[in-house]
Parts: sequence; C-alpha cells; structure tokens
Amino acid sequence: MSVLKEKLAAKINEWRPRTRKLLKEHGEMIIDNVTIGQIIGGMRGVKSLVTDISYLDPNEGIRYRGYTLPEVFKKLPKPKNAEIPYVEGLLYLLLTGDIPSEEEVMDVEDEFKKRRILPRYVYEVIDAFPSLSHPMAMFSSAITIMHRESFFNKKYYAGMPKTSYWEPTYEDALNLLAKLPEIATYIYAKLYRDGKRIQSNPNLDMGGNFAHMMGIDKPYDDVSRLHFIIHSDHESGNVSAHTGHLVASSLSSIYLSVSAMINGLAGPLHGLANQEVLRWLHDLREKMEDQIPTQNEMKQYVWDTLNAGQVIPGFGHAVLRKTDPRYTVQREFCLKHLPEDPIFKYVDILYKVVPPILKEHGKAKNPWPNVDAQSGVIQWHYGVKEYEFYTVLFGIGRAIGVCANIIWDRALSYPIERPKSLTTDMLEKFVESKLKEKKK
Ligand SMILES: CC(C)(COP(=O)(O)OP(=O)(O)OC[C@H]1O[C@@H](n2cnc3c(N)ncnc32)[C@H](O)[C@@H]1OP(=O)(O)O)[C@@H](O)C(=O)NCCC(=O)NCCS
Repeated sequence: MSVLKEKLAAKINEWRPRTRKLLKEHGEMIIDNVTIGQIIGGMRGVKSLVTDISYLDPNEGIRYRGYTLPEVFKKLPKPKNAEIPYVEGLLYLLLTGDIPSEEEVMDVEDEFKKRRILPRYVYEVIDAFPSLSHPMAMFSSAITIMHRESFFNKKYYAGMPKTSYWEPTYEDALNLLAKLPEIATYIYAKLYRDGKRIQSNPNLDMGGNFAHMMGIDKPYDDVSRLHFIIHSDHESGNVSAHTGHLVASSLSSIYLSVSAMINGLAGPLHGLANQEVLRWLHDLREKMEDQIPTQNEMKQYVWDTLNAGQVIPGFGHAVLRKTDPRYTVQREFCLKHLPEDPIFKYVDILYKVVPPILKEHGKAKNPWPNVDAQSGVIQWHYGVKEYEFYTVLFGIGRAIGVCANIIWDRALSYPIERPKSLTTDMLEKFVESKLKEKKK
C-alpha cells in the first residue's frame, strides 16, 4: 500500500467516530434558518454541506486544511530550483490534513507516474471531435469515456461493505488525476498545434511534466504548479465542487462525477470567467490598437460593459467580500515575473478602477477581483494564447479538490444528496399564513 493510502486509512479510522457522534447525538440540532430569498436566490449562504478539506472565510479567503495560501506555499516541499511546491504535496495535504515530508511527496509522485498512461480509446474519442469544439466539451467527454475503467464499479458489483467504498474510489481518483495533464495537453495539441504532441517525461513531477508536454520552458513549470494548487478547492458549495459531490453521492464513478463537475465549471459565471476576462480585454485592446488605456479610458470601458447589462468578468464572488487571495498570489507572481507585460498592465488598471465603479454601480455585493481576473494573463504571457483552453487548466486543479472530497464523502458514508423543493404556490400560501398570524 502507498504511504499516502496507509496514512489516509489511519486518518479515516480516527475521524469516523466524530461524524458518527455528531449524527447520533446531535442530529436534530438546528444550525441554520432558510429564507425565501435564499431558496429562490440559489441557496446563497445556506449552511447545508460539510467538508474538512477547505474552508472559505468571506474576508480572509480560502484555507486548505487550516492553512492559508501563503502558508501552503511556504510549507509544502518544492522541487529543486522551483519557487512553487509540488502539486503532489498538495494532494497529500488535502487528503490527510498533514504537511508531507519530501519522501511522502515522492511517494505520491511515484503513484502518479505509474498511472499516467491513457487508454488508446481516449485519444480516439478526442480525435473524433469536430474542429471548433470547445476544449471543455472535449475534456469532459474524455473523462466520461473512462468510466469503464472504474475500479469502484467492479468492486461494487462484486459486493463490498460500505466501509470499504473509499478504497477503490481512492484508486480511481489517483488513476484519473494522473491522467488529466495527459488528456489536457493532447486536446491542446490537437486543437492548436496541428496534433503535434510532446510525449510525457516520466522523470518529472506533475507541474513539470505538464509544462514539458505544453512545450513551454521555465518558469511555466512553476506557473502550472501555482495554477493547479490555487484552483484545487474552494469549499463545497461552488458549482463545480458541489456538482462533483452531488453526482458522486449517487455512487456514480469518479469519472462520471469529475466530468460532471467539469461541465459545471465551464459556465461563464464560474470557471469560464478566466476565458471571458481575456476575451473582454482583447476587445478593448483591439479598440485601443494595442495602446495601454488611461485610467479614464478603462473606466469608460467598464461602464460601457455594465450599461450594456453585462457583468465585469473576474470581479465579484458569491462568498468572498475582499480581494481573493488566489488573485493576490498570482498578482505577486506577475509583479515579479512579468510586470511589463501589456496585458498585465490592463489587468493592473482594472484592479484600480473596477472596485470603485462596482461600488457606485451598487449591485455586486463584492466589488473585488477573484481568481479569474488574473490567471489568463499569466498563461497569455507564457504563450498559451488560446483562451478557450484556460478553463481546462482550472479543471485539472479543481479535480484534485473534488476527488479528495469524494474519497472522504465515501469514507464518512455521506448519503445520497436530496434537498426538498417547494412550489411557488406553496411559498405564497406560506407567506399568506405568516402575515395572517402576524395580524392576529
Ligand atoms: C461570481 C458571481 C456569479 C457571484 O454572483 P452572486 O453571488 O449572485 O453575486 P451578487 O450577490 O453580488 O450579485 C448581485 C448583483 O450584482 C451583480 N454583479 C455581481 N458581480 C458583478 C460583476 N462582476 N459585474 C457586474 N455585476 C455584477 C449580479 O449580476 C447581480 O445582479 P442582479 O441583481 O441584476 O441579478 C458574480 O459576481 C459574477 O457574475 N461575476 C463575474 C463572473 C466571474 O468573475 N465569475 C467567477 C467567480 S470566481
């Protein structure tokens, strides 16, 4: 058994009594009230999910297993001559809650290396896609088609106790995570490099190998590590994480669950916003004939977008009420590595002008930038100019957090998810009776 799996097994055994006790002794305790506004308004803020992998504080931003992003970057082991830690170390942290040693990271790296090879039919499915397909549709399909590899399914149909569900799920998760960079780079080569593909290098870590397969020199290996780490998890209520959890709750395989989460990520209000930021800025760049806009010109562009009834991509958040630390980490990277990049200059001006405008506009509860406002510019700078591909990169990262959550969901026997819905008629009748009661 791998070091990680052994450690995880011990953690699961320690944790199970805590969940059991909460359910058995305090299952009836009320933790939240729900308003009509929340029911109609996308369940915003309703406390109805549990995860121990990450927690999102509205003002502080994300913590992975209790660690802020700067702490994660400081504490996790890094490859030699790298600024950014191993992605494999992050998986170890998300799964176990512990900062791994160098040897423990190497163990995960070895596990990934053993599992990277794609079945032949995955290439054939990608090859069969019509040109001009969106890479997220291709990515999702390539993951779906691997459902037949599911070890969980084989074990389930052979018969296994509930307490063992997490083990084949863990195997499926590692098999899938190891393959995602291979799938993504194959899609990239097919769509944008005339099918000219660079083979995987078995000696490299996940981030290093991804950069190698993309054919991009240093520091793109660090860019990849940074990107996958900061996009991995954002607690459980966002569309992609929640979709992964929901689909897996019916005991669908990791492949079907992760492909569903990829489909959720592909919406412009969620992960696709990283593509939208670049598309929107390029429209402006064309108008400006490549000149850097003044602050006043940028303000006008922002207002024109708002007055046309559109959102400013990369700004706002359903939970956050401050600048997203995932934005800040990337901004610092840009200030260090690409301060003169023209697109970064655009993004930098946006950082200054958008929040006051959104405040004046008066709608968005959070006027500050989110992760997507800053990620595309880094990709663009290092030569990944096909911005339709950016959400695929987000998807590789997000799959790490979603898989970690699904393994724990099964370890703690979380049941199939099934909230209750009401009709509008029922809501109106409920309001009527409450108002009558008040009058009495
Ligand atoms: C992320 C997002 C979907 C959150 O939605 P939310 O929780 O409903 O946000 P709010 O409660 O602040 O929305 C209240 C209003 O402000 C608007 N608003 C929020 N962010 C806005 C933005 N960036 N630009 C313009 N308007 C915005 C909403 O569209 C909504 O308008 P409505 O009342 O006409 O429906 C939203 O901020 C958004 O669309 N941002 C741009 C897309 C983006 O960057 N997505 C990636 C998020 S990580």
